[in-house]
Amino acid sequence: MHYDVIVIGSGIAGLACALAAAPARVAVLTRGAFGEDGASRWAQGGIAAALAPDDSPSLHARDTLAAGAQLNDANAVRRLTDGAPAAVHWLDRIGAAFDRDGAGYRLGREAAHSRARIVHAHGDASGAEAMRALRTAARAASHVDVFEHHRAVRLATRDGGVRGVAAIGPDGAVVFAANAVVLATGGIGALYRYTTNPASADASGLALALDAGAALSDLEFVQFHPTALAPAGGESGQLPLLTEALRGAGAVLVNGAGRRFMPALARDAELAPRDVVARAVWAELERGETVWLDATRAVGAAFAQAFPTVYASCRARGIDPAREPMPVVPAQHYHMGGVRTDAFARTSVPGLYAVGEVACSGVHGANRLASNSLLEGLVFGRALGQRLAGVASAARRVDLDVDAADPGEVPADVDAAIRDTLWRHAGLVRDAHGLALAAARLRELARAAPPRSAAAARIAVAQRIVEAAARRTDSIGAHHRRDAVAAQAG
Ligand code: SIN
Repeated sequence: MHYDVIVIGSGIAGLACALAAAPARVAVLTRGAFGEDGASRWAQGGIAAALAPDDSPSLHARDTLAAGAQLNDANAVRRLTDGAPAAVHWLDRIGAAFDRDGAGYRLGREAAHSRARIVHAHGDASGAEAMRALRTAARAASHVDVFEHHRAVRLATRDGGVRGVAAIGPDGAVVFAANAVVLATGGIGALYRYTTNPASADASGLALALDAGAALSDLEFVQFHPTALAPAGGESGQLPLLTEALRGAGAVLVNGAGRRFMPALARDAELAPRDVVARAVWAELERGETVWLDATRAVGAAFAQAFPTVYASCRARGIDPAREPMPVVPAQHYHMGGVRTDAFARTSVPGLYAVGEVACSGVHGANRLASNSLLEGLVFGRALGQRLAGVASAARRVDLDVDAADPGEVPADVDAAIRDTLWRHAGLVRDAHGLALAAARLRELARAAPPRSAAAARIAVAQRIVEAAARRTDSIGAHHRRDAVAAQAG
């Protein structure tokens, strides 16, 4: 099949790109049914944009850089925050119903934002509403064809560039050829014991990129959310998110003795940056404590209406969050690293582009600011689509020779071993010894995995993450050692 553009993934970045690429002919490949894939529709936090009179894109940029430990690409940050208001208005125009306050949007505040600038929809169902609007628009767009139940298994290269994709569909292997292939496959949550991501966030885009020789960067920057609903038993995998907006509304973290522990650790207590709160929760759990998020006073009887998504998850577990605290654990939430992209979302391989969580444009630095992820997908996805609109005229039919063999699924025992290894040794708290243990365990798994299998591809990504974390840990260690030497000398 020949298209101008192939987009792999149907989350916010993929659909924003596909819609903006008209008149180019676009194929969107989605692994499940259209609308059931990806993390975007699960996002509870909203979309950050400087829309208030006391706000500006430069203030939004300053907060984004501070959250990212100033390790962000400052130009990418400016493009993101400058583009945010227009992106929200565009989504509104195509039909997303954001929460309003009189004439304007109701703007919420979240941790590490210096202004109220978060646009939500139906309280905590912002991602679901954004995706509903985008899916409706994509279904109506004559330049977009959606291929449901199509799993991309290999990128096809020709003349040193990516020119297509091999996918496994309901009727077997299909090869798609195009001038541009866009990875919009989301994150890596399925590599960790606990995650807020759906099972489809399994690093498949990183594996495809790695196989095609594309550069990856900042892989060690993994964000953990402090408050996922703790599992009832020993199960691992996706856990319901208890949105940060709950703490924004005044909910507090307490241990088994009912004692708040955040005020002693951070000036902003429960609203300290996500990594600080997540490590504090981890430390309590490591001490054998249980940790609870208590919204009974702050939200109480308004819970079901203000936080319908969280309320439903709690009720499904037999918890009434209006009256009782919710048990929490930290969970992998977002990957700041990914396939390295430039200002035009180009990867290091010609013809291959990446947007959304799978990409690493450097916009988030070491730590993403709350509600900047849907925003990134929208702003960078649309910008890429607009640039790719031009490839239609340049379309040239090519025949591709690509290995379209099905790499299969990752066996359950390998999946569990990867999750446990990364969670224990390359998770919230890392040290050189733990990372060496992780590297050794992954080497064992790699030796046992069949070549070119899905298991081998996922293990290879996990190895890159551990290697990057070890390099970072070494350089931090070296830095501290240098400080110590300087202090002694001086
Ligand atoms: C949340 O609602 O706590 C998550 C928001 C985000 O990840 O930006």
